[in-house]
Amino acid sequence: MKIAILVDEPRVSYLPGEEGLSEDLQKRKTVKNLKEVLSKRFECSLIKADKDIISKLQKKNINLVFNLCNGIRGETKQAQIPAILEFAGIPYTGSSILGHTLALNKNYACKVFKGSDIPTPEFLCIYGKDDLMQLRDRKIKFPVLIKPCDEGSGRGIHQDSLVYDFRSLNRKVQQELRLYNPPIMLTEYIKGREFTVGILGNGNNLEVLPIIEISFEALPDGLAKFYSFEVKSNYADKTIFRCPAPLDNELKINIEKTAKKAYNALNLRDYARVDIRVKNDTPYVLEINSLPGLQKGYSDITKMAGACKLGYEGLIFKIVENAINRYKQTSEQKVI
Ligand SMILES: Nc1ncnc2c1ncn2[C@@H]1O[C@H](COP(=O)(O)OP(=O)(O)O)[C@@H](O)[C@H]1O
Ligand SMILES: [Mg+2]
Repeated sequence: MKIAILVDEPRVSYLPGEEGLSEDLQKRKTVKNLKEVLSKRFECSLIKADKDIISKLQKKNINLVFNLCNGIRGETKQAQIPAILEFAGIPYTGSSILGHTLALNKNYACKVFKGSDIPTPEFLCIYGKDDLMQLRDRKIKFPVLIKPCDEGSGRGIHQDSLVYDFRSLNRKVQQELRLYNPPIMLTEYIKGREFTVGILGNGNNLEVLPIIEISFEALPDGLAKFYSFEVKSNYADKTIFRCPAPLDNELKINIEKTAKKAYNALNLRDYARVDIRVKNDTPYVLEINSLPGLQKGYSDITKMAGACKLGYEGLIFKIVENAINRYKQTSEQKVI
């Protein structure tokens, strides 16, 4: 069987406060480790996604694409490569067009969570400052967090995104509307423990990896206790990761159940990572990463796999196996 690891151009950020953020090194390390593992069982090559990908993949008779493309532009960027592959009938790992599109846009994802009775923080979609008038009607209380609806890696979520009064809210909203795709998202701030949950599988056949708790208790005084861009980029050594998270059994089961329900509500496939905060024993889903990073020993989902018998190698083979089984169970069987 021939597998191609498909990568696109790494994104470099030039926005104020985020200059120089580059995914280049992270991508190169991910590809190197991934290729080492996949080559043990498959004929494995590395292909760069460009306008000729269909012919490149067909020329090499690729049976399965290991999709690592985050996308470059547009509001559905993560879904574009899956769309091209699906059009060409080429099987690929991970979520489909629908899943990536829903997960990438936090406003839509949270609408689906609400409609599926999955607890998620109260939120508003903000196109302009007039939308802030809904705050009172919807009984959303300060503090609230302002975030872009379709970014990741802490982009646009800064220390001053957590606001305690209307004046700072207004100022932050104006600033974010200038920098990011509207609508931006206003979300009720959930003060509580934070967890991230790795899920593998499809439909009723889901497996939850050991949960990670992300603790901000060691951050210097004066820094707000959430995973802001500043914390992600400058305070990694002061961010505590506990895996498996210390949880009593009831809460653990509740978090796992909520994460699985959210995964299926967005129609996700093969693997994803669900971000959760817990308040009064209720797990609130903040967002789902439908294409979580796979850098060995660094990305959360690889740490989770490292904390159980699966390990990094097992994780990668499991993703491939999930994709193959999924195609075997559908009418697209002939392509594998
Ligand atoms: N509603 C919320 N309540 C509390 N904290 C939140 C909320 N939304 C986001 N956060 C904090 O901001 C961090 C980043 O938000 P998230 O939506 O996961 O964006 P990203 O895609 O950048 O990871 C979360 O890990 C969490 O610490
Ligand atoms: Mg997140």
